[in-house]
Amino acid sequence: MGTAAGRWHAPGRVNLIGEHTDYNDGYVLPMALPLGVTCSATLLREPVIRLRSRQAPCDGVDMTLCDLGTGGWSELPTWAHYPLGVIREFERRGHEVRGLELELDGTVPMGAGLSSSAALSCAVAITLRDLFAPGVRAAEIIDIARTAENVYVGVPTGVLDQSASMLCTAGHLLFLDVRTQEYEQIPFELERFGLELLVFDTGSPHRLVDGEYAARRAECAAAAEELDVLFLRDVTDLAEVERLADPVLRRRARHVVGENARVLRVAEKLRAGADPRDIGPILTAGHVSLRDDFEVSAPELDTAVDSALRAGAHGARMTGGGFGGSVIALVDRESAGAVIATVRDAFARMGFDAPRTFEVTPAPGAHRLV
Ligand code: GLA
Repeated sequence: MGTAAGRWHAPGRVNLIGEHTDYNDGYVLPMALPLGVTCSATLLREPVIRLRSRQAPCDGVDMTLCDLGTGGWSELPTWAHYPLGVIREFERRGHEVRGLELELDGTVPMGAGLSSSAALSCAVAITLRDLFAPGVRAAEIIDIARTAENVYVGVPTGVLDQSASMLCTAGHLLFLDVRTQEYEQIPFELERFGLELLVFDTGSPHRLVDGEYAARRAECAAAAEELDVLFLRDVTDLAEVERLADPVLRRRARHVVGENARVLRVAEKLRAGADPRDIGPILTAGHVSLRDDFEVSAPELDTAVDSALRAGAHGARMTGGGFGGSVIALVDRESAGAVIATVRDAFARMGFDAPRTFEVTPAPGAHRLV
């Protein structure tokens, strides 16, 4: 038995543009999804951590706080590594954590490139903050959640997903400069312009995602070194990229340099109150670059993008890390049905499973519910 302490929520995200730019010290432009992870906490008398997940009812974890630091998590279900990593990281930074039961419930589809893992880490992190370390600022929560994924789960992600989950606000895109950590909320008024943003979760698995993601990071670092800059963010002239001798590094750098410029252009247009239809071609150019230069797309993603554009979408692109996952499409409200039907049709013809489709509007970032 324990004392009910409250309930917290952290969202998943779609990234409108700015893919594989975060670990190059660049720019990103995500929005929070109405889908996320809810964490209900109960304070326990005993020094134990109890984790329960609605999505894995047979896979609960019970661990004493003393055992937390001794490692040996390999026998535990993977989902539990995220909350345990966050708790461990809180302790490592000198914040005392006491006995706790956390009941987790998620609505972000897993493996869809919509940041179900950052939603999980951030939901647990703000729970711990409010219960044990109220002074901890959002920047440290983002760092704790990212460290949990990097160190305790072993995926070398950047800060895009955790920043989106923590900092996004309803009705806005989050324009974040990863280098300076400065950010700005830019209104994204789809309804006013008769538009919808559709998400197609293609259901295609993140093939080789860990190894390939790490490989892209390494290639970007190698390109930056050869160009004699700290990060590819420091290159703004695409002609510079052509100095790279290796054609693979040249393609990778071309994507990052071009993508940072695309984020700045989209942010500038929306900030100035432009019709969001204007950004459509920039979104599509981002997809072409991810497909041809960064080589992180997949047949399902390309099929969704091509068929959505054919059916009249103003712009479409994969969102997230790639190698599978989801596509976003910017469409007129009245053509949403036709776009969805055309994409489903194209999937059927290719022999792919039907994609899960939903409309999204920018939702609030992580917060306490009760
Ligand atoms: C994943 C990572 C992010 C980011 C994107 C690509 O979502 O978690 O840090 O690198 O891929 O933009």
